[in-house]
Amino acid sequence: MSKGGGEQTRRAFLAAAAALPFSALISGCRRAPSAEDAAEELPEVRMPPPPVRGAGRHAGARLLYYAESVGIGAAIDRALARRFARDTGALVDVVPRPRDATETYASYLRLFQARSADVDVLSLDVVWPGIFAPHLLDLGAALGGLAATHLEAAIENDTVHGRLVAMPYFTDFGMLYYRSDLLPKYGYGAPPATWDELEEMARTIQGGERAQSRSFTGFVWQGKAYEGLTCNALEWIHSYGGGAILKDREPTVENPRAAQALARFHRFVGTISPIGVTGYEEEDARNVFQGGNAAFMRNWPYAFAAGNAKGSRIEGRFDVAPLPHEPGYESSATLGGWTLGVSKYSRFPDAAIALVGYLCSPEVQRFRALVGGYIPTIPAVQSDPDVARVLPFLERVRGATLVARPSNQAGARYNEVSIAFYQGVSKALYGTNPEKALEQIARRIRRSLR
Ligand code: GLC
Repeated sequence: MSKGGGEQTRRAFLAAAAALPFSALISGCRRAPSAEDAAEELPEVRMPPPPVRGAGRHAGARLLYYAESVGIGAAIDRALARRFARDTGALVDVVPRPRDATETYASYLRLFQARSADVDVLSLDVVWPGIFAPHLLDLGAALGGLAATHLEAAIENDTVHGRLVAMPYFTDFGMLYYRSDLLPKYGYGAPPATWDELEEMARTIQGGERAQSRSFTGFVWQGKAYEGLTCNALEWIHSYGGGAILKDREPTVENPRAAQALARFHRFVGTISPIGVTGYEEEDARNVFQGGNAAFMRNWPYAFAAGNAKGSRIEGRFDVAPLPHEPGYESSATLGGWTLGVSKYSRFPDAAIALVGYLCSPEVQRFRALVGGYIPTIPAVQSDPDVARVLPFLERVRGATLVARPSNQAGARYNEVSIAFYQGVSKALYGTNPEKALEQIARRIRRSLR
């Protein structure tokens, strides 16, 4: 991997990071900045130029790229697209994908069903390569060398029937965010290890803080009926010893431990969590937590860089820990992340593949880690000392067990399985008896996989 000029490059990165617009946007307003807010203000990308495949041949191409949209992801992607245009002469229109992963899925399905040439490069959730493979180009011949530098498991995930249909962009997992200033204020020396501890701490802190701030809440998470709820509920159930949805293509959710997990989260709604949490996505939870209005949050790592950006209300006043578990079981973190694929219907496949190779290069992964806290999928970039310094949470959550959603087992049927799961979980959050909800989930999953 290119270290590109040592200290000078490092300073350029830090300058770019420091110039991020969070401070300006947060002070004086309670909400966290949206990706759109940040879009125009990200400074020019400073990094050693990544190699471009087929350099010199892409001038005149015009690509449409469905990009990141959560946190500052869209702003970073837009800045990278401008830099790619400068380096290659190919224009890239960046469209932030819908923030809700399930809505993104639906848009892609429509585009692919229409064999639309309107989109060239797409951000794909790690659970989708098996579903969208028939509509994606095989990147193996062009990007196989670069792929060999990425985590083997990530490349395996993006390889469907021997075809490399996507390249890993970044990886992530669920973590517990907590207010490191408020825990000691209420006499707690460490973040909660079990769900009982979390419940007790959240109730106490919420009770105390409401004296000054009526909307203060204990614990925020992603409770809307969408892919994010699948990720959250998988963590609850697994951390209760209730399994991971499927085993050998058979649903495993009909068990008393899974039911207890759902019963607990039903109890959280309207007590230590806002009643509206059943409509929350990632950014809703982050807005509450980053606005200083929650003691605990479940979220992905992108919220770490955002929360610590200069001017954030909680800058330096929060930390992360592994998510809680039931005594005797494991802290569990759902494995997430995004990959980049090229549509088979693209009019500029060479330029599109070049853009994917560029965005998944070590240079860009390093830049995205330093500026946005995105976890690289190239081990050599992960262990770069500058990167390790800006991703301190990697060390803190080491104790958690990573749990994958069953996308490999379910293959092209994964989305149906996930819908059955999150819709059932959502019902339980609204009060359906958890055993009954789990029984329905199992029945629907069996039907999908038959
Ligand atoms: C994050 C994860 C992704 C997951 C999504 C759910 O974006 O990276 O894998 O599906 O959250 O909301």
